Amino acid sequence: MAAIESVLQEQRVFAPPQALVAQAKISGMPAYEALCAEADKDYEGFWARQARENLAWHKPFTRVLDETNAPFYTWFEDGQLNASYNCLDRQIEAGLGDKNAILFEADDGTVTAVTYRDLLARVSRFANALKAKGVKKGDRVVIYMPMSVEGVVAMQACARIGATHSVVFGGFSAKSLNERVIDAGAVVVVTADEQMRGGKALPLKAIVDEALAMGGCEHVKSVIVYRRTGGNVTMQAGRDEVLQDLVAGQSDQCEPEWVGAEHPLFILYTSGSTGKPKGVQHSTGGYLLWASLTMQWTFDIKPDDVFWCTADIGWITGHTYIAYGPLAVGATQIVFEGVPTYPNAGRFWEMIARHKVSVFYTAPTAIRSLIKAAEQTPAVHPKQYDLSSLRILGSVGEPINPEAWMWYYENVGGGRCPIVDTWWQTETGGHVITPLPGATPLVPGSCTLGLPGVAVAIVDETGQDVPNGQGGMLVIKRPWPSMIRTIWGDPERYKSSYFPSELGGKIYLAGDGSIRDIKTGYFTIMGRIDDVLNVSGHRMGTMEIESALVANPIVAEAAVVGRPDDTTGEAIVAFVVLKRSRPTGDEAKQLALELRNWVGKEIGPIAKPKDIRFGDNLPKTRSGKIMRRLLRVIAKGEEITQDTSTLENPAILEQLKQAQ
Ligand code: PRX
Repeated sequence: MAAIESVLQEQRVFAPPQALVAQAKISGMPAYEALCAEADKDYEGFWARQARENLAWHKPFTRVLDETNAPFYTWFEDGQLNASYNCLDRQIEAGLGDKNAILFEADDGTVTAVTYRDLLARVSRFANALKAKGVKKGDRVVIYMPMSVEGVVAMQACARIGATHSVVFGGFSAKSLNERVIDAGAVVVVTADEQMRGGKALPLKAIVDEALAMGGCEHVKSVIVYRRTGGNVTMQAGRDEVLQDLVAGQSDQCEPEWVGAEHPLFILYTSGSTGKPKGVQHSTGGYLLWASLTMQWTFDIKPDDVFWCTADIGWITGHTYIAYGPLAVGATQIVFEGVPTYPNAGRFWEMIARHKVSVFYTAPTAIRSLIKAAEQTPAVHPKQYDLSSLRILGSVGEPINPEAWMWYYENVGGGRCPIVDTWWQTETGGHVITPLPGATPLVPGSCTLGLPGVAVAIVDETGQDVPNGQGGMLVIKRPWPSMIRTIWGDPERYKSSYFPSELGGKIYLAGDGSIRDIKTGYFTIMGRIDDVLNVSGHRMGTMEIESALVANPIVAEAAVVGRPDDTTGEAIVAFVVLKRSRPTGDEAKQLALELRNWVGKEIGPIAKPKDIRFGDNLPKTRSGKIMRRLLRVIAKGEEITQDTSTLENPAILEQLKQAQ
């Protein structure tokens, strides 16, 4: 590994700034290598040390990793702790009570500061309110909230009493919410009257009402409604209550419920290859350990930092790097309600300047759209703002193309700030492959190297390692503390999705393709190897969208594929066969619009296909299998050069090439 610096001299490489190296938690490549070596030499010893040093345990663990029931691994199992205690009480005991935990900036620019002491009081009141509603340890609480202090409070309050939260992104439809509430068996839903985004009030409570009315949700005993806008909502007597009223009478003291390290902290639904989203279940101890450690390693968080992760709490990034990680290390963070383009596309830069943000973490899609905006409107170019407070930049959720990387590096980071391109997944709980800001020489477009203690590798279909320079499947060869524990209610699916028997049943299959640089071993991610799309950094299963389309009474058949998109990374293209004859012209346009909105209603606006094309049929083999690879070529607008001799109906290709 010592060769990396010299090899990289031949490439476009960006060394970490000396000032950063000097004070970084992991300072220089030798320090990184030493940690990797420590983990290699004594894996359990390494993790035990990290867990003791980084978490406060109510009861210390004596066992570290248990592999007897693989792939259902456990970590620190006989230890007891509480996530909310680790995030709040522990910071106050360390003298940080008056430090700002959250600087909340509302859509309209109003800023509210919440100290650690205030946050603990709010979490405790909410936790007591949940208890008053009968919520007990192990019960599930669905949180369908806007970006807000209350959203974080709701998550932390669940953790405080040992309830397992399941946050559903506020952009999901009533139907998606209904499915998640049922699957999780939730007893309470926490929501808001409305959410404010880009100057507009959008409904939340009305969607909860619709979701619960769809049936199957009889286990939901209460709906707690945060009054955000004061908008008109229907309150069902005996079931619904206003959050502000509910917490008003509650004590601001709440003894944390000590739980075993394996106690499920949360379930978060994510898309897979089949139509049904997977409820990814995370633990308390291992998950929180990694949230805390990666804040220190990847973001090199320091007491004076102002950290800002722009994700929504409805996604894993918002769980680990808003609701838990920053609080677990006693940082000050920004929580932002709005959107990057309101009141104008300079909002992010203006906020960085206003709050003196020093560590900024966002998604390539946001960067790409802000590049476009800055090109069109020079007044919102980041150069117009004082971004001198920044010291580290981060990227997450999708590959960042080298052009966007360079723009981010030069125009936002002023050429001074390392970019940590973090590869990870809902299932990994936290970062897995990422540069370290005070150590790793950066190459645009590469997420570089695995973090110490996570055995990331690339293998072929038989599970054999492939040499550098040869692509393959990204895997993690040993269990690690923050890994997914199971799929809620479906352990068989957990095994078959992530630990396929072809790979021996014990190696975690990430579902991404990857390649390592021949000389440096740096990883580059090549996208999903399954039927999962990545649209604006959001995971969408093609089958989920297909199921939504065929649920429409006019649709006979549908196939969904991805197509590269300059802004969103990938765009959704749907090929649709109607039960009636193929529409053309204006009628096709009208029906495409209707179907797009239909998918928006079925799943949520993020799943709306960008392009819908109608055919008399779909390209199929003689045995009736849809040839998706041909559809992918057509979606890209490229010529078909592959063999089409096995096709039942080759003429269909010409028809589908025509846009609707
Ligand atoms: O394909 C990879 C892509 O996002 C997938 C995980 O999506 P999700 O579970 O929603 O989590 C997103 C936030 C962690 C991965 O399988 N992905 C994530 N980060 C990167 C990435 N692809 C390339 N580079 C990344 N840095």
